Amino acid sequence: MSEKKRILSGVQPTGNLHLGRYLGAIRNWVDLQNDYQCFYSVVNYHAITMPYKPKKLREQSWDLVYRLLACGIKEENLFIQSLVPEHTELAWILNCNTSYGELGRMTQFKDKSKQVRETDKDMFISAGLFTYPVLQAADILIYKPSLVPVGKDQEQHLELTRNIAQRFNNVVGKKYFELPEPLFTRIPKVMSTADPNRKMSASLGEKHNIDLFTDENRIVKQIKSAVTDSGEVKSDAMSPGIANLFNILWEINPEEHGQFLEDYKKGNLQYGVFKEGIAESLIDYLKPIRERFEEIQADKKQIRRRIKDSSAEIRKVAAQTLSEVKELSGLL
Ligand code: TRP
Repeated sequence: MSEKKRILSGVQPTGNLHLGRYLGAIRNWVDLQNDYQCFYSVVNYHAITMPYKPKKLREQSWDLVYRLLACGIKEENLFIQSLVPEHTELAWILNCNTSYGELGRMTQFKDKSKQVRETDKDMFISAGLFTYPVLQAADILIYKPSLVPVGKDQEQHLELTRNIAQRFNNVVGKKYFELPEPLFTRIPKVMSTADPNRKMSASLGEKHNIDLFTDENRIVKQIKSAVTDSGEVKSDAMSPGIANLFNILWEINPEEHGQFLEDYKKGNLQYGVFKEGIAESLIDYLKPIRERFEEIQADKKQIRRRIKDSSAEIRKVAAQTLSEVKELSGLL
């Protein structure tokens, strides 16, 4: 089979696919497909660690599949986590090689359990939320990747994955798992256009993120209403809002970025023109993605079948690892 190094990453089927997620992660995933053997997962088992609705979860999972394919992820590299149940079996074994204490130190657990407590008094904090990072470790280790492209927010989970792998190796007395390295994306955070001091995210609400698949008028409107100067203007520092817009433009149209930056340096950047330029560039840039999405919409049934097939193919790799792990662990 392929001699290429492997990559694994996962994305939760919650929240919309917005520009921050795309520029910060998905675009990178697409590019990495040229040089690596890639395993990309819609991690729906992770999505049920927080309060959820079954029907919505199913819809969101498939919807994310369509959108990822529209972005350029190849069908054969994409799978749905719950179609590869070996992840959960490996997670159990790894759970027993993970200490309660280190899971309690995970900042994402602290943040999310706080979120559950604050948003829904009747809801409990699930045991799954607590052991979530172990399932993530299983997602990763089961494919023996060398690299895991993630955002900086996942650094602690990657560190834990390496610790778990190391511990497993010690227990079985063999360097079975390689310790995978995180691959952080090149670009700094894309910030909300409505509040450029906060990261662009789905959970902040609609006006804070630019959905890749929203209609073009809305994109224009969102860029036009982007916050530029907020409050006091410090003489020579670029305001966070302007810096964020430059950042976005750099990612989608570097040439135009250069031109506007010159205007800015000369002190004659016109915000209206600047914003129009960005909106136009963004619409051009997203055009092929949106067109592919239209095509996919017409072919959903076939696509679902093919993703089930690719998941079954990928499952073979996972099954192989799991059987080796069980053998090494004395689980018959
Ligand atoms: N925890 C990741 C997130 O919240 C999602 C994820 C689950 C993941 N399993 C993974 C990321 C494996 C990388 C590798 O974004």
